[in-house]
Amino acid sequence: MSSPIPTLPGADATAEVPLAVRRSSRSTSPQSRVPFPKNASAPKRILVLGATSGIAEASIRIWASRGDNLFLVGRNVDRLNAVAADARTRGAGFVEVSVVDLDNTNAHPELLAHAINSLGGLDVAYVAVGMLGDQARAERNFADAGQILHTNFIAPASLLTWLANYCAQRHAGTLAVLSSVAGDRGRKSNYVYGSSKAGLSIFLDGLRNRIDREGVRVMTIKPGPVKTAMTEGMKGEARFADVNKVAATIVNAIDKGRRKGPDILYVPGLWRFIMAAVRAIPESQFKKMDL
Ligand SMILES: NC(=O)c1ccc[n+]([C@@H]2O[C@H](COP(=O)([O-])OP(=O)(O)OC[C@H]3O[C@@H](n4cnc5c(N)ncnc54)[C@H](OP(=O)(O)O)[C@@H]3O)[C@@H](O)[C@H]2O)c1
Repeated sequence: MSSPIPTLPGADATAEVPLAVRRSSRSTSPQSRVPFPKNASAPKRILVLGATSGIAEASIRIWASRGDNLFLVGRNVDRLNAVAADARTRGAGFVEVSVVDLDNTNAHPELLAHAINSLGGLDVAYVAVGMLGDQARAERNFADAGQILHTNFIAPASLLTWLANYCAQRHAGTLAVLSSVAGDRGRKSNYVYGSSKAGLSIFLDGLRNRIDREGVRVMTIKPGPVKTAMTEGMKGEARFADVNKVAATIVNAIDKGRRKGPDILYVPGLWRFIMAAVRAIPESQFKKMDL
């Protein structure tokens, strides 16, 4: 938790956001470079925050292969460049990257303005950044717990505050955010991670309640366990969901749009029912269970 809670230009001074974007008349913007047939749907302008995540990478592969325009943000330069190179090879209309540690919330306003300028606007912001952390260490040392809470809740809340204000001003855009089923109920084995995701899910509920009426879609994505670097070596790994199937479900749900698509997506869908059952267990029993 190296950075303090920032003053966000997008939070109360939204005028700064459109100025930066309106100034963009770059002839190299995706819109000017990627013509598309009149009857085809336009390539989407997609900003991916946490683009080296396994779930994000699988989503990027789908978007790239259909010619969408991508701005990719991550902190590992080599992995980010590899994801970008793969996206170009698959046929993305436009790919640009920014290497940023997203824990640094002070960097968010400039990063987001630059990304949207580069894309020539924004159709989808996909927030995939996250960390599982180590529950046992977090119980012993609050610095570990604080890091998990910062990366999974504070940093996304900062990104979403700016993005929500940008989108609400334009009455357009989709904010698709990876939360987790772990946020639906606290368990002793991962309540620090779970509470960071619970905070994020509630933040998204409130944000949706605020800006859906402005024409902005806020989509909460709650995956169950998925085979990615985050879950590598975990017990039961073989039964975890396939990352490509999970990404295909997410991309499809985003494509459905604000009126027809889900506000909250459990993926795989079975997790909606599993978590309903878990939430229904009385606390007097739940507190005695080893979960
Ligand atoms: N896999 C699952 O079972 C599962 C289930 C439910 C929800 N989710 C959520 O889905 C999202 C994606 O997870 P995943 O499974 O794809 O895991 P992953 O492959 O471990 O991806 C997490 C990504 O977040 C990035 N990241 C972490 N801190 C960052 C920071 N400060 N700045 C920039 N990037 C940062 C990591 O970058 P580095 O590689 O540089 O560390 C990594 O690319 C996460 O929010 C996760 O909590 C995953």
